Order: sequence, then C-alpha cells, then structure tokens
Amino acid sequence: MKRFLFILLAFISFSCSNPQSRFSESSSKVQLVEAKNGMVATAHPLASKVGAQILEQGGNAFDAAVAVQFALAVVYPRAGNIAGGGFAVYRKANGETGSLDFREKAPQNASRDMYLDKEGNVISELSSFGVLSVGVPGSVDGMIELHKKLGFLTFEKLIQPAIELAEKGFVLTENEANKLNDYQKDFLTANDSSTYFFNEEKWKTGDSVVLPELAQTLKLIQSKGREGFYSGPTAQTMLAEIQAKGGIITQADLDEYHSVWRKPVEGNYKEYKVISMPPPSSGGIALLQLLKGSEAFDFAKLGHNSAQSIHLMTELERRVYADRATYLGDADFFAVPQEMLLDSNYLAKRFSDIRPDHKTNSTEIKEGKVEIIESIETTHFSIVDKEGNAIGITTTLNGNFGSKVFVEKAGFFLNNEMDDFSIKPGVPNQFGLIGAEANAIAPEKRMLSSMTPTILEKDGKLFMVVGSPGGATIITAVYQTILNVVDFGMNMQEAANAKKTHSQWLPDQILYEENGLDSLVLKQLEALGHVLIPVSAIGKMDAVLVLPNGLLQGGADSRGDDTAVGVK
Ligand code: DON
Repeated sequence: MKRFLFILLAFISFSCSNPQSRFSESSSKVQLVEAKNGMVATAHPLASKVGAQILEQGGNAFDAAVAVQFALAVVYPRAGNIAGGGFAVYRKANGETGSLDFREKAPQNASRDMYLDKEGNVISELSSFGVLSVGVPGSVDGMIELHKKLGFLTFEKLIQPAIELAEKGFVLTENEANKLNDYQKDFLTANDSSTYFFNEEKWKTGDSVVLPELAQTLKLIQSKGREGFYSGPTAQTMLAEIQAKGGIITQADLDEYHSVWRKPVEGNYKEYKVISMPPPSSGGIALLQLLKGSEAFDFAKLGHNSAQSIHLMTELERRVYADRATYLGDADFFAVPQEMLLDSNYLAKRFSDIRPDHKTNSTEIKEGKVEIIESIETTHFSIVDKEGNAIGITTTLNGNFGSKVFVEKAGFFLNNEMDDFSIKPGVPNQFGLIGAEANAIAPEKRMLSSMTPTILEKDGKLFMVVGSPGGATIITAVYQTILNVVDFGMNMQEAANAKKTHSQWLPDQILYEENGLDSLVLKQLEALGHVLIPVSAIGKMDAVLVLPNGLLQGGADSRGDDTAVGVK
C-alpha cells in the first residue's frame, strides 16, 4: 500500500496570459500537506513523487535530494539540469550543518573583457545566449559528492527514476507547455529546426516528452559516476557542440571541475539560528543582513504587507544590495569581508539612517542606474526525512533553458551562468544586478549568485528548510517567507503563497506582485516617494516547516506546479 499523502490537488489550472511573465498565475493550493515521516517540496509533482519514493524505500533526505535533482533534469528542463550548477545547505539529524557549492566556473580560457567589443562596450546577449554564455557545469559532480558524503542508498538506485522518466516519457503540464512555447524562437536560433524542443505545432498540455538521449547520458552517469559526464561520450558530444559553435570550454575545464564543501553562513534572527549559503552565493550574507536589520522593527505590529513594513524592508534591502554589488564575489578569488558585513556594530551603523517617514534615494547610497529585465527560472527544493535530516538545494541553468543550446545527442540544455558575472563594472546583468571587481570574470572563478537555500533552527532543533528561484529576488523572497512564519504567524503554505515585494538598491524602485497590495498601501508608499512597479510574480518557494508536535508541514508555491508530498 502506497502511503503517500498526495498533495494538494496538485494542479489546478494555470493561465499564462503574458508570454513575458516570469511565472504563470495560479489559484492557491487549498489543502495543507502535513506528514510525519518525510516531506519533499519541489517545483514539479513528478520530482516530488520521486523524492518521496526514495524516502519510502529507506533513503535519507540526502538520497532523496540526489534523486530529485536528476528527476528535475528530466521533467523540468527549464531549470532542472545536469549541465548547470547550484548549492546545497544541509543539517543532519545530529545537528551537524554544511553546504556544498556545485556552482559553475568560468572556463580556463575566459577573460575579464570577453563580452566587450574593441571599444569596451558590452556585446548584446553574448554573456546570456549561446555557447559563450556557458559556465563549466557543476551539477553532476555535486550530486556525486553529496551522495558520497551523506547518502545511504546506492547512487545507481537514486538516478534510476530519472532514467525511467526520460526513457518512458512524461506528460507536460500547462505551465511547462507554455514555457516551452515562449522560447521556440530562441531554441531555433541557438540550435536548428531539428532540435527536440522546437515544435512547429506548439507544445500542448498533455503532450508526451520522451528523451532517450538523456536516458542514455544518465545511464552513463549511473554506471561510470563522474566519468559518465565529465569524460567519455557525454563530454565529447558536449564539447563538440560547444566548440563547433565557437565556445571556449575544453576537456581540461571538465577535468578540473570539482564542487566544494563550504562552511555555511550562520547567524541568529531572534531566537532562530539561520544556516545559509556562503560565497560564491550572496544569499546567506544578504539574508542575514536583512534579518539582523529586521530585529530593530516590530513587523508583526506594523502588519503584513502594510506600507510601513514594506517601506522599512525596502530601506533595509537597498543598503544590503548596495553592499552585495561592492563586496561580494567568489571568496576563492576576492577577499569577501564576510565578518564585517555581518558584524552587529557595522549593521547597526549601516541601518542607522533608516527613517519610518523618509525614503532614502538609492543614488545617495551609491551611484548607478540599471533596468531590470524580467526573467525568472531556477528551481529550489526542500526535503526532510523521518530522522530529521534536512536539505535545501537551489539549482539552475540561470535563464529559462539556460543558454538555449540543447546538446541534442546527449539530451540536455547548457547553462548561461556566465551572465552572473559582472561583465563590465556598473553594467547590469539580466536581473538588473550590478557588480564590480569582486565579481569580475577570471579563469576558473565562480560567478556570484543570489541563490539562498536556507535552514532555520529553533531551540537547537530543525525548524524550517526554505529557498526559491527568482534571480535577484531570491534573497528578498526567502527573507519575507521567513518573516511570514516567524513574525506574521503564517503556516508554511500561506507563507509561500503570500504576495511579496522586492527592492534591490538599483533600480530605485519596489517591485510588487500584481493585485498583491492594497490600493491604500500603494498610495501610502507613493506618498513616501517610492516608485512601485507591478510584476507577475516574485519568488516560488518550496519549503518545509517542522511543527511543535514534530509533524512536517509542506509549503509548495501556488505560483507554479510546485507540489509537496508527505510520507505518512
Ligand atoms: O545564481 C543566481 O543568482 C542566478 N543564476 C539565479 C537565476 C534565477 O534564479 C533565475 N530565475 N528564477
């Protein structure tokens, strides 16, 4: 008897009215998922099911995470990946914590000005589209290392569900069919009309996707481990594709790629311990700066999404994102002043000029002008097993379907992560983020990220696993989700679904979700001088909360097909 407590009416219908929209709208999940023996919350129902099955078969949370990562590479190709990268933050049931950096690296032949023309101007789209935008992939090495250190079941077993999904096929949800249709022109430009995901008749809900080449690649990884991806036929096929189109990644880059275990960023927010991702992610430091700054305000009293709360959060955010632009990059290459950025005296001073009735202009904090291009995809999943082992992984190709280059004979998309570098000081990337020296391109350096897989403890016990996609908005979405539970008393599902806002220093504006704020609140914020820009969605949370009675509560964002599956 299968014991899954399946979810939330899962998939409600979604309408995708605006092809440019970052996420489709959806009605909210109506049923709260709670279970005792495990919880898996991911962006796709099939991946959540795979994770729950691994838990059922005696795997731990880390086994389930490996299986989910590979399953997402099949059923969620816009962000799930084997040729991308990501970060894992974990907490073992015994309280030990750690993080794994399987972020992509710049190729050895990369150079600081590789996306500039002779006059020093940025060449449009070179860092974000096509083979020159590809960073050396980290996901396969990451999953192998994760399994080696923390897994219990055999690696062969964990990758098998993904092989079966790729071989037997799976059915497209409405969201995923729409997303594929939004990118048809790009698939054609980056590949040719024979590319698998190009479909003249358009993809439809219920269409079956079968990926035998990907199944073959996964089988090579299953039988040969790292070698199945970084050398042999997969590497040869991938390098041939990259090099034929003018890319610079070589076999030496693949040979040299290794993920890195890092000490997580840890700090306290009220009575909670926060464990998050260190550089090359900006997420952990920025999140802790925001949370520390929040201790000065009584948000519960000010009210969720009230003008005062949003104003104060925005003021914190503009200062934190200004620090991000200046000080954060790959700490293996640049001396990130992590201690200073999290020092309570520094933060008290940094936030001391925040006023409840006055908006600071971002240009007073630092110069710069950027525009945000709305684009969103990456994916986060959170898993807790019956022992209390917990893991959050955020993984990405960067943009939807990454560089749009599909390695036909091996069945996967290549990332476009190079765009996360600061390709020229002061020039924004696709998320409107700017940077400078700290995040300049250098051979084998990792590009700065905003991905923020995070775990919270309360009274020395596991409390929450949380994370989100959303480029620059990841940090603020995770921040608000934590406040939603800790300060505003929401359950995990409500906290995930709640409408969010985002501000990032530059541009000097607040993004808010359409229909997410009361018109009076909008007027009050405008009266303070804030510029408010509506967007279709901010964040897409997949999270798990541990209730006082030990039950695990799933939170799977209603903005997508996200699904929490509990093991009873
Ligand atoms: O690492 C980063 O911050 C970005 N590459 C993440 C991209 C992302 O979240 C896209 N949208 N959801």
